[in-house]
Amino acid sequence: MLEKLTQLREEIKRSLVNAVPESIEALRVRMLGKKGEITAVLKGLGQLEPEERRKMGVAANELRDWAQNAIDGAKAAAGATQQAQALSEETIDITLPGRRRGIGRLHPLTQVYGKLEELFISLGFDIVEGPHVETVYHNFDALCTPESHPSRDETDTFYFNDGLLLRCHTSPMQVRVMEKQKPPIRVVVPGKVFRRDDVDATHTPAFHQMEGLVIDKGIHFGDFKGMLELLAAHIFGPQTKIRLRPSFFPFTEPSAEVDITCYICGGKAQHEPCRVCKDSGWVELWGCGMVHPEVLRKSGIDPDIYSGYAFGLGVDRITSALYGISDPRFYFENDMQFLKQF
Ligand code: PHE
Repeated sequence: MLEKLTQLREEIKRSLVNAVPESIEALRVRMLGKKGEITAVLKGLGQLEPEERRKMGVAANELRDWAQNAIDGAKAAAGATQQAQALSEETIDITLPGRRRGIGRLHPLTQVYGKLEELFISLGFDIVEGPHVETVYHNFDALCTPESHPSRDETDTFYFNDGLLLRCHTSPMQVRVMEKQKPPIRVVVPGKVFRRDDVDATHTPAFHQMEGLVIDKGIHFGDFKGMLELLAAHIFGPQTKIRLRPSFFPFTEPSAEVDITCYICGGKAQHEPCRVCKDSGWVELWGCGMVHPEVLRKSGIDPDIYSGYAFGLGVDRITSALYGISDPRFYFENDMQFLKQF
């Protein structure tokens, strides 16, 4: 019996030399587990004569304690060795550049809206926004746009049922503001507008405008022209000149289109034909005019007391002009190569 215990001790010693944690655990189960060899010896003590049992009991318990300690110690040592080895093998290459996550930036249209708002706030304008889904009344009727006007056609405007549509300009907000607010009025209205255009190099079915409306006593065309000159200089630089061309809108009288001197060729005759102004030296940017007395009347403002001007800035066009962007489709494609440039 004592011999058996000595054998087990030797076997444990041998097995623990250079052992890995997994084989040490297997050894523990084989020796000290429920059906382990040392456990079997301890269980067998009961069948021995009392004298023998006492002697063997002491020796077997001593072996069990020793084995437990030896195995625990070996396990800890082997674990540490394994970890140290892993650490030395699995080195982290700290010279590898990390993956950069860009923080992004403002869309060029948002940047231009910001520049415009900055100017208008400094001039005392309020900024208001209106609904994309408008009534036919606010989009057309209140703006004196007759039934026969081509913009009212189903082929030009997106209609819902029930006298609703997607606004085709920001001008209905002129009406909404005048319905709510008494003069003096100074507002700009940034926002998306929608027209049934097929997508091509100069059209997108959604685009961006900024409406402006100023109503007060004694507002005349000269006030308006002064403001336009400020605006052109603020956006395109002090060298920029503006030109007003007679035009027609049902809700302004007189009406005009605003052109600026070409930002590519500077408005000078060039040897090379200019692709932007087609050699005219001018680029058309937005429509405007003095608010029609009938529009004032329909919205509850007395045209014998008040007058004013309105304009609808084409923000996509201003942005294209400012950054030399040739195609408005870029604004909607979320292409990082494009957006990163601004
Ligand atoms: N709403 C017109 C358009 O979209 C522009 C405009 C606005 C003209 C205000 C006159 C006054 O074309």
